[in-house]
Amino acid sequence: MEEMHTIQWFPGHMTKTKRKIEAQLKLIDAVAILLDARIPYSSCNPDLRSIINNKPRMVVLNKCDMADAAETKRWIAALRQQGITAVALDCKTGNGLKGFIPAVKTVLADKISAWQAKGMKGRTIKVMVAGIPNVGKSSFINRMAGQSRAKVEDRPGVTRGNQWFTVGKGFDLLDTPGVLWPKFNDPAVGEKLAYIGSVKDDVLDTEHLAGRLLEYLRNNFPQSICERYRLNEEEIRSAQGYTILEQVAKNRGMLMAGGAVNTERAAITVLDEFRSAVLGRITLDKAEECNGFRI
Ligand code: G4P
Repeated sequence: MEEMHTIQWFPGHMTKTKRKIEAQLKLIDAVAILLDARIPYSSCNPDLRSIINNKPRMVVLNKCDMADAAETKRWIAALRQQGITAVALDCKTGNGLKGFIPAVKTVLADKISAWQAKGMKGRTIKVMVAGIPNVGKSSFINRMAGQSRAKVEDRPGVTRGNQWFTVGKGFDLLDTPGVLWPKFNDPAVGEKLAYIGSVKDDVLDTEHLAGRLLEYLRNNFPQSICERYRLNEEEIRSAQGYTILEQVAKNRGMLMAGGAVNTERAAITVLDEFRSAVLGRITLDKAEECNGFRI
């Protein structure tokens, strides 16, 4: 996809974030890596693993209300095979949130026993929430903190402005210091991020993006678009994305003055409906295709 190659982030940004995270590592007990359950692989910052080094970690598959439930289960099993504890939840309804603190305690079981042995029974557990923009970090922290959301005042040795939050008795969360950019240099990853809306649309050609998405859905989830937009699977089998988009506009009666189809309106509709799961709960990254994925 042409547009995708032009999206760049400055390595300098990551260097700053890397330094900020490294500076916090000694203050935290574990890292909760937030991933989008629709694209667990593509929403993972590729450098995070080396940045957090050997800190205990776990995965939160967020937005699972919009992902395919069976695929989410396969992701959790695949991560477990790597020895990584993963929980699936969504911050929209709050489903699965209750499993988070117990999961962190499982990951830290040995540490917690060691603290107890030393008489540090009530020691606060401190967890950094790490994830690329838009994955739901603020929503997650807000949900976890609930009504009692409380920003912890600056701690000694911690730079002012750090985002610490108390979310339970003896349990604090730290929001990612800095910005963890996704992996834009892989075009397939960039496209998936754009489909779910993690890349600002104003830097993309909406019709081109919607056309690519329609081709992708036609190839992988044809029923999702055929039902919704009354498309004939046979007819669109080898069609270009733009042709499918024109058909969507026609079937939806999206016409401009003079009768030409309004493909721009159709593009916005297709992207919106995909992003809000109106086209179904669709997971774009399959666990079985991401064998080499390490966290
Ligand atoms: P960030 O801090 O990692 O950048 O993400 P943030 O919490 O701001 O969430 C980004 C968007 O994702 C928000 O939508 C948020 O409501 C939505 N979101 C977060 N978690 C979930 C989830 O589990 N399920 C669903 N369906 N959506 C989720 P937005 O459109 O940017 O804002 P708004 O609609 O909340 O106003």
